[in-house]
Amino acid sequence: MEEVKNHTYNLNFHTRKWVKPEDLNPNGTLFGGSLLKWIDEEAAIYTICQLGNSKVVTKYMSEINFLSSAKLGDIIEMGLIATNFGRTSITLFCEVRNKITRQSILTINKIVFVNIDENFNPIPHGKTEITYSRDRFKS
Ligand SMILES: CC(C)(COP(=O)(O)OP(=O)(O)OC[C@H]1O[C@@H](n2cnc3c(N)ncnc32)[C@H](O)[C@@H]1OP(=O)(O)O)[C@@H](O)C(=O)NCCC(=O)NCCS
Repeated sequence: MEEVKNHTYNLNFHTRKWVKPEDLNPNGTLFGGSLLKWIDEEAAIYTICQLGNSKVVTKYMSEINFLSSAKLGDIIEMGLIATNFGRTSITLFCEVRNKITRQSILTINKIVFVNIDENFNPIPHGKTEITYSRDRFKS
């Protein structure tokens, strides 16, 4: 269980990244833009798995709170959890932390994805709660 901003979430830290030279800013620490790109992709994959639809778009991201930085050679991990299922949308909470020290690098309270059809219009996803791959893929 992770304690973040008065919330307690069971985050799934699925994806790890090894901070490499091409990920750094001119100060020699992890470039925020690289991290946000990784988070957006990870959150999209999480959403696709939860909603069972590969056509989803990022709608909204709340305040991003960079708490600490990462440096060359650090291993970081990204944690996500769905905090709300709307009619066509899903809201996620995100935390990124140093895998070794567990120090929090950033938190994002709300990332909203919208489920869309082939014409890019929002469509209901019909989901109301988190599912797990062991249940989703069982025959
Ligand atoms: C996503 C998009 C299709 C939604 O269109 P829209 O006209 O806002 O649709 P709606 O008003 O019906 O809202 C759709 C859902 O988003 C939610 N939403 C809309 N604006 C929001 C906001 N600012 N913050 C949080 N949620 C929001 C709505 O509450 C609704 O959720 P619900 O059905 O679960 O209640 C449209 O805004 C779009 O194409 N945006 C560009 C997406 C994009 O290119 N992203 C970057 C690349 S992935």
